[in-house]
Amino acid sequence: MKRPFLLVAIALAGACAYAADPAGDVRAGRALAYAECRGCHGMDGKGTGPGIPDLGGRDAASIMAALEDYRSGRREHGPIRGIARNAKPQELRDIAAYYAAQPRSAAQPASPAK
Ligand code: HEC
Repeated sequence: MKRPFLLVAIALAGACAYAADPAGDVRAGRALAYAECRGCHGMDGKGTGPGIPDLGGRDAASIMAALEDYRSGRREHGPIRGIARNAKPQELRDIAAYYAAQPRSAAQPASPAK
């Protein structure tokens, strides 16, 4: 009797992915990450160069807080500021949810030492 349970679990997971999600939609976030963030943060969230922090597996709320700080100018970073200002709040939540869902990299600390 394992299979019916599995099918229900898959159906529920699918329903969650399509519902408007205040916590962010990982699928929508993936497309946005591909378009906007991949060049620097990679699709797995690993920084592609020195000084680019690892986002994979970070708490979505902390990614969101950083994006809000870039948007408001509390934190300075030209490219992300531009992206964060132009994106809708839901899009930022989706991207945060996407990177939070990636496996955390063991090779890099979650936040760069400053
Ligand atoms: C041009 C390269 C570049 C692009 C494009 C870029 N980032 Fe970044 N990102 C960086 C760098 C460099 C930093 C570190 C800046 C700093 O110290 O504030 C950073 C920092 C961050 C942080 C803060 C991480 C921390 O540890 O506090 C978040 C969150 C973030 N980026 C998310 C994004 C997202 C989401 C996108 C796409 C919408 C994006 N970035 C696009 C280069 C980039």
